[in-house]
Amino acid sequence: MTKEKVLITSALPYVNGLPHLGHLVGCLLPSDIYARFNRLMGNEVLYIGGTDEHGTPSELGAKKEGVDVYDYTTKYHNIHKDIYEKFNLSFDYFGRTSSKENTEITQEIARELFKNGYIEEREVEQVFSVDDNMFLPDRYIVGTCPYCGATNARGDQCESCTKVLDPKDLIDARSAVSGSTNLEVRKTKHLYLKLSKLSDKVRSWVNTRKWNKLTLGIANKWLDEGLSDRCITRDLKWGIPVPTDVFPDMKDKVFYVWFDAPIGYISITKELLGDGYKNWWLNSCGADKVRYVEFMGKDNVPFHSVMFPATLIGANEDYKKVDTLKGLSYLNFNGGKFSKSAHRGIFADSAIEEFPADYWRYWLIKNAPETDDTDFSFERFAEEINKDLNDVLGNFILRVLKFYNSKFGNVLLHNPANTEKEQAVIAELQERVNAYTQYLNDMEFRKAMAELRAIWVLGNTYIDEMAPWSVFKTDSEKSGEILAFAMNLMRIYMVLAKPIMPNVSEKILGTLGTSGDWIFDVKEEMNAISKGHKFEVPETVFSKISSDRVNELNEKYNAKK
Ligand code: 2FM
Ligand code: ZN
Repeated sequence: MTKEKVLITSALPYVNGLPHLGHLVGCLLPSDIYARFNRLMGNEVLYIGGTDEHGTPSELGAKKEGVDVYDYTTKYHNIHKDIYEKFNLSFDYFGRTSSKENTEITQEIARELFKNGYIEEREVEQVFSVDDNMFLPDRYIVGTCPYCGATNARGDQCESCTKVLDPKDLIDARSAVSGSTNLEVRKTKHLYLKLSKLSDKVRSWVNTRKWNKLTLGIANKWLDEGLSDRCITRDLKWGIPVPTDVFPDMKDKVFYVWFDAPIGYISITKELLGDGYKNWWLNSCGADKVRYVEFMGKDNVPFHSVMFPATLIGANEDYKKVDTLKGLSYLNFNGGKFSKSAHRGIFADSAIEEFPADYWRYWLIKNAPETDDTDFSFERFAEEINKDLNDVLGNFILRVLKFYNSKFGNVLLHNPANTEKEQAVIAELQERVNAYTQYLNDMEFRKAMAELRAIWVLGNTYIDEMAPWSVFKTDSEKSGEILAFAMNLMRIYMVLAKPIMPNVSEKILGTLGTSGDWIFDVKEEMNAISKGHKFEVPETVFSKISSDRVNELNEKYNAKK
């Protein structure tokens, strides 16, 4: 197989929001599984993540905590980083968009866009809060909706009647920052990215993409509706300053957070590799041979399929652009939304305190919302952990190892059985391993997980049918050979589970006294554990989740409200 260079990015979560299970399954976990899988394929992988740190919410969050914005984002960046480490996300680097590298590259891209005629300065009217001494972004102006009378409508949209608003329409408008009504409309200048002018180039490029229907649909919908020029600057202190060498009138302006966030993928690579980032991001430096895969929630697809590529195309054709875009839907919590403010749902920091990372990794990827939104409930979680992990996989491991150890000790006296029965198992396993490998390669995670489970069931069925515990009474040799065959299956299972449940894999491969790269030829792998091999018996592999525990969790995380 030819080895590839694969660049993998996971959408950069906003630093000020704590991640919940939906964030994990929406991009972080699938991208990690894909990165681990590609490493196991022998590919050269660069897996990049980080936090998206700019924008008004960070500025306001810091104000609320009474701290400097950089210190505020540093605190939350570290919280994200720590949580992701606990979930075993194997980023090659987890960076941040507030780095000096992101400032340099974002400013450079803006200069290039300007030089190529894709950025324009325009004078606009905007609401200024005299008491806050700042221009207010639309959603930070609140007031009474002129259509339905709701008193807490935001300047961009009324949440009650969903009408799109202009802040100037609001009755009794006030600042959401301070509540002040001392507002004025003032003239100010902003930069606009001329997406209308880039539209044809973007469309031609999109036409060369082999994306799935969902992604192509979203991209073409945007393009067909006609791309409007987009304001890419804001009147904030916290953000990447607009370079005044090319935009002298733009003192005190920063770039809009969605302009610099995706550039973060490039700058985070630079944080890690210095000038080596060019090998991954500039086609003339070898990036044309890189396969670039992006993971994100579906709401991020328009930005990644159109906006970010448009930015790169307009700046310099030499930039690497995405090859495959994997967008995922949402995960709900008991039929509703996760909400930190309503204390509803389990967030990642608590999740990892309740159960080991591999339980979550297994359940979430098995139920990944690939086509439709999916619902999480503690009942479903417990049922699948108990059935799949405990009853099917865990019991197979423990039954085999305990029985062998009790009858023959922990050094193998037998080679694996090799009759027609075992050959039939090997043949079926080979087919399933091929399918599992292909699904992972294609990022079809639910299908991959259905195969993995079927692979485990295969071993359980084999051992049930062969019943080495009964055979032992009449033919101890034969019983030992069946168990040795089962131990080889076990090793294969643990290698195949490496991208999904890295901790369990490592633990069981350790107790089996073995290791392994990927499984391609099952037959060749079936003698890895044979006569003379020493193993240990683990105390437990998985623990069942009781219905009392489920009730407690429902109570604790507000599942039934
Ligand atoms: O939706 C979000 O959480 C955004 N912060 C994603 C940004 S992805 C990339 F552009 F940085
Ligand atoms: Zn309204």
